[in-house]
Amino acid sequence: MFRKTLEPSAKALAPRTEDNNEELIKRNADLSHALEDSKQLREQLRQSQKLESIGTLAAGLVHDFNNILHIVQGYASALVEHKVAPEKVVKAGRAIVRAVEQGTVLARQLLATAGKSEAKHEPTDVNGLLRPLVDFMTEAFPTTLTIVSELDGEIPNIMADANQINQAVLNLCVNAKDAMAGGGKLTVRTRTIAGMEIRKRFHDAEAERYVSISVADTGSGMEEATRRHIFEPFFTTKAPGKGTGLGLSVTYAIVQSQNGFIDVASEPGRGSTFNIYLPIPKEPAVLAEAAETFAAKEAKTPAGHGETVLFVEDELEQLKLMETFLTDEGFNVLTARDGAEAVEVHRRFRDAIAVVVLDLGLAKLNGWEAFRIMKQMNPKLKGILASGFLSAEVKSQLANGTLSALVPKPYEPRQLLTNIERAIHA
Ligand SMILES: Nc1ncnc2c1ncn2[C@@H]1O[C@H](COP(=O)(O)OP(=O)(O)O)[C@@H](O)[C@H]1O
Ligand SMILES: [Mg+2]
Repeated sequence: MFRKTLEPSAKALAPRTEDNNEELIKRNADLSHALEDSKQLREQLRQSQKLESIGTLAAGLVHDFNNILHIVQGYASALVEHKVAPEKVVKAGRAIVRAVEQGTVLARQLLATAGKSEAKHEPTDVNGLLRPLVDFMTEAFPTTLTIVSELDGEIPNIMADANQINQAVLNLCVNAKDAMAGGGKLTVRTRTIAGMEIRKRFHDAEAERYVSISVADTGSGMEEATRRHIFEPFFTTKAPGKGTGLGLSVTYAIVQSQNGFIDVASEPGRGSTFNIYLPIPKEPAVLAEAAETFAAKEAKTPAGHGETVLFVEDELEQLKLMETFLTDEGFNVLTARDGAEAVEVHRRFRDAIAVVVLDLGLAKLNGWEAFRIMKQMNPKLKGILASGFLSAEVKSQLANGTLSALVPKPYEPRQLLTNIERAIHA
């Protein structure tokens, strides 16, 4: 595990020759042997390696962010200097919004990696976590893919960070989808494996039992030459704009932070299977604790009391997440995926809707335009706008009270909840 931590980051320090790489890896290997007896030093070194890999990620991200800024700068200057034909203004605006959204995705990926040192270790029901993910894929992935789940009902809870595990598995699933452009079968499987089995491959696997989460596809598979590099940050075989090369390095970092292991079996033309192994804790107390957390959750009074919220967001994953979250919090949730649809839903349910939450960068009508139309129909309507970028016009509407709140993206669900409660009770 130790050597593996070093490998991706060391290799990613471009440009390096193969020789240099080998020497680095050897040096790191020697180092790790020398320190084997000293747990404390080992931990310190692990920490500094973490920092190093974050640094490497950050350096690469600066490059990607510069590209994004370049796009925004180009279109924005053209707009300011009136070099864009009137009928192309919207198109230019969209290009800017898209670039900004790409930046947000990158920022989230970085957060996922950087946050690994603060990974939670809470009782986690792995199957319970995977089921919604499988549902989501069934809905969102192309219909040429068959999504199958084989979840072993007997697996015990583990101590883990549910959000991070979710992210790690999702990254594998997105890759599986990408590898099956012509259709195929994606299988998500869980089971329990004896620690002895894991130790055959990973010598420092200490737990007695592990939960394995497998993501198998029937797609393109990989040559050995590709397979060797896949966990390195920024390694991608995808066309520019199609891949960042961050997915597997983030998954790798997450699995490490959860004291787990990851391996892959792949054959060109036949598909790939990724396996994540996560330790099952010895004390069965984990189950009692999980039950307690659940009970505590049940006892908590929800924020909403059946008020209707119209939630408008074009990103399906985010929409589903917030729909579930707000429903759990006691709200009645209506959804729409673009500005025009939002106006239509509002027209039909006008009197019922207490608050509308809109993403600013929506298709057809942007969030602000859509909200203005609704507000004309119902002056009492409360509006919350979420965006990574806020224009002076929108900000001034907050100041004069037309809008209840502006929420910068990306936001935490709780943060939005506070704003919804405030808007309702204002
Ligand atoms: N399921 C898979 N089948 C085939 N190749 C894969 C699979 N998963 C990952 N890869 C390879 O690993 C590379 C790195 O993956 P990743 O880190 O997620 O970055 P990205 O998906 O942005 O390229 C991919 O570009 C691809 O070559
Ligand atoms: Mg990927």
